[in-house]
Amino acid sequence: MPLNTQPLAGASFGCLAEFTGARDAGAVVAAAEAEPDALTNALYAANGFLLMKGMQGITEEPALLNRLSRLFGEEVENYRETGMRPTSIHTEVPEILIVSNMPPVDRPPPKRPEPPLTADGKLPVQFPHRRGWHTDQSYRRPPPDISLFYATIPSPKGQGQTLYADCIAAYEALPSSLKAKVDDLVGIHVRPGSGRTEDAVRNGDTPDPLGPYEQPQHQPVVRTHPISGKRSLYLCEAGQMDWTIGPFVGMEPGPDGEGATLLYEIMSHLTQPKFVYAHEWDEGDLVIYDNRTTLHAATWFDAEKHGRLMWRTTISGNPGAEYEGERKSWLAAE
Ligand SMILES: [Fe+2]
Repeated sequence: MPLNTQPLAGASFGCLAEFTGARDAGAVVAAAEAEPDALTNALYAANGFLLMKGMQGITEEPALLNRLSRLFGEEVENYRETGMRPTSIHTEVPEILIVSNMPPVDRPPPKRPEPPLTADGKLPVQFPHRRGWHTDQSYRRPPPDISLFYATIPSPKGQGQTLYADCIAAYEALPSSLKAKVDDLVGIHVRPGSGRTEDAVRNGDTPDPLGPYEQPQHQPVVRTHPISGKRSLYLCEAGQMDWTIGPFVGMEPGPDGEGATLLYEIMSHLTQPKFVYAHEWDEGDLVIYDNRTTLHAATWFDAEKHGRLMWRTTISGNPGAEYEGERKSWLAAE
C-alpha cells in the first residue's frame, strides 16, 4: 500500500500521512512494516512532524504503537529500565509512557497563559506569553530522536492542544546577528523539577542535590540532523534549562544574566506563530515528531471536568556525529 502525504492544514511544516486502503491501525502498522522507510522519509521531508488519523485500534492493541515505534529506530525506551514512576508506565507495554490527569498518573495540565488569549483573540503560542516549550528528555546525553504521541482519550476541542514549532525553519530565518551568536552556543539542560528552573532560582530555592546520573547536560544550540543534514535550533526554556549555572555555557548565568536575555530572544523568535502548528486532538490521532528538529508545548485544559489520556513512546539511537560513541548519561555503566 502506498503512503500518501499531504500538507497539514494550518501549518507551514509537517504532513498528514496515510496508507491508501489501510482500514484500521493494524493494517496501517502492517503496511508501514512492509515499507519500513516510508514513514521516516516522510517525517524528515516534513521537517519532523507527521499526523496519522484514525488509529483508534491502538487503544485495544497497544503493542501496535510499539511496533510502529520500532520503524523509527531500534532503541524504543523501556520505561521500566529508566527509573520512570511505575504509575506512569503502561502495564502491558512498558515502552508506553502514560500522560494523564487521571489516577494513578495524576499529572495536571499546565496553567492557562495570562491573559488566556492574545490581543486578537487567538491561542497564545509565542514565548514568553506561552510557557512550557521543550524537546523531550533534552536533559539526557545523547538526547532522544523521535517521540510518538497517541490520543487514547483527548480533551475536548478548543483546549488541551499540543503546540509544535519548526526549529529548522526558525534557524533558517534567524537574523544574521542572532545566527552568529548561536552557531557555537551550548545550552545547559536539566531535568524539570530539580530546583534549577528560572522560577526556582528567582525564588531563591535551594537546588536539589543531583546524583551522578542526573547531572545537567550540555547540548549544542544548533544541531545538524544526521539523516536530512538540515540544521535546526535545539533548546528549551524556563523549566528544562539549568538557570543556576546556565542557560548557556560561557555566558553570565541566572534569570537576569546575559544568557537569559539571549534565551528569551531566541525562544521568542522560534515560537512566532508562523513557525508553530497547534494540534487539536481527535480520539485515535497519532502524532510523530522529531525531537531533534521540533519543540513542543502542552496547553491547558479543564482537568476538573475532563479526563485526558495520552500515550507516548520515545526512540533513541541516532543523535548525530556530535554524540558518537558516548555512553548514556542517565544510566549507570554496565
Ligand atoms: Fe514533551
